[in-house]
Amino acid sequence: MISEGDYVLIMLDPRRTWLVRVEKDKTLHTHKGVLNLGELIGRNFGCKIMSSTGAEFFALKPLIRDFVMKSKRITQIIYPKDLGLIVFLSGIGPGSRVVEAGTGSGALTMVLAHYVRPDGHVYSYDVREDVQKVALENLKRAGLSDFVTLKLKDITEGIDERDVDAVILDMATPWEVVPHAYESLKPSGVFISFSPTIEQVKKTVSALRKHKFLEITTVETLMRNIIVEEDRTRPETRMIAHTGYITFARKYTEV
Ligand SMILES: C[S@@+](CC[C@H](N)C(=O)[O-])C[C@H]1O[C@@H](n2cnc3c(N)ncnc32)[C@H](O)[C@@H]1O
Repeated sequence: MISEGDYVLIMLDPRRTWLVRVEKDKTLHTHKGVLNLGELIGRNFGCKIMSSTGAEFFALKPLIRDFVMKSKRITQIIYPKDLGLIVFLSGIGPGSRVVEAGTGSGALTMVLAHYVRPDGHVYSYDVREDVQKVALENLKRAGLSDFVTLKLKDITEGIDERDVDAVILDMATPWEVVPHAYESLKPSGVFISFSPTIEQVKKTVSALRKHKFLEITTVETLMRNIIVEEDRTRPETRMIAHTGYITFARKYTEV
C-alpha cells in the first residue's frame, strides 16, 4: 500500500518516468496533464492513475535501480551492467562490511548499501566534500544513509577499517590502494577495481601480483538491448560501447 511520504515511480511508458514523493496536496505536472499524487495514498503500488487530460499512468514501487538512475550526478557513475557484476563478484550480502572509494555521486554506494542492509555497513572514502554532499542526498532519498559512513579521506593514505569482506574501488589510482586493501581485508576477502582504461588495469594487476592476492581476473561487460517486434526482433543499432574494466582478486594468507 502507498503511504504519505513514500516514493513512487510514475510511469507513462518506460522512457517517460518520474520519481516523486507522495504528499496529500502534491501534484505532478506532465505534458500529458496533471496528476494528483494525494489520490495514491492507500492504494496498491503498481496501480493506475489518470491525469487531468485522461492519460493513463502507473505508480510503481521504486527499485534500487530507479533510485540509482534518477540520482543527482556530480561525477560519472557506474552503469547498471557493471553494478550488477560488481555485486555478484564481491559476494556481499546482508551483514557484509565493505570499504569503497571514491564515493562520487554515490551510485555504487547506494547499490552496496542496498545489499548489505539491514546489519551490514559501507565505509565510503572520497577526497571531495562536494561529491559526498550529493551522494548523501541520493542515499537519503533511497532510505539508505543509515548503512553508510562517508569518509572525507584520501584512500591512498590508508584504510581505517579492518576485517572487511570487500574493498571496491572506482578512482583514478587503484594500484596505490592495493597494499592498504590487503591490510583491511579479512582473509579470503575480495578486492574489486573498476577502471575505464587499460593503463590503470595493468598497474593495478601488477600491484596485486606483488601482494598475496589470487584469482586475479579482469573482465569487461557488454550489454545490448533487444528490440522485440513481429518479424523485426534484433539488437538495437546503438549501444554503450565502453564503460570500464572490472578487476577482481582475493586475499590469501600463509596461515
Ligand atoms: C568516477 S567517481 C566515482 C563514482 C561512483 N563510483 C558512482 O558510482 O557514483 C571517482 C571519485 O573518486 C574520487 N577519488 C579520486 N582519488 C581518490 C582518492 N585517492 N581517495 C578517495 N577518493 C578519490 C574522486 O574525487 C571522485 O569523486
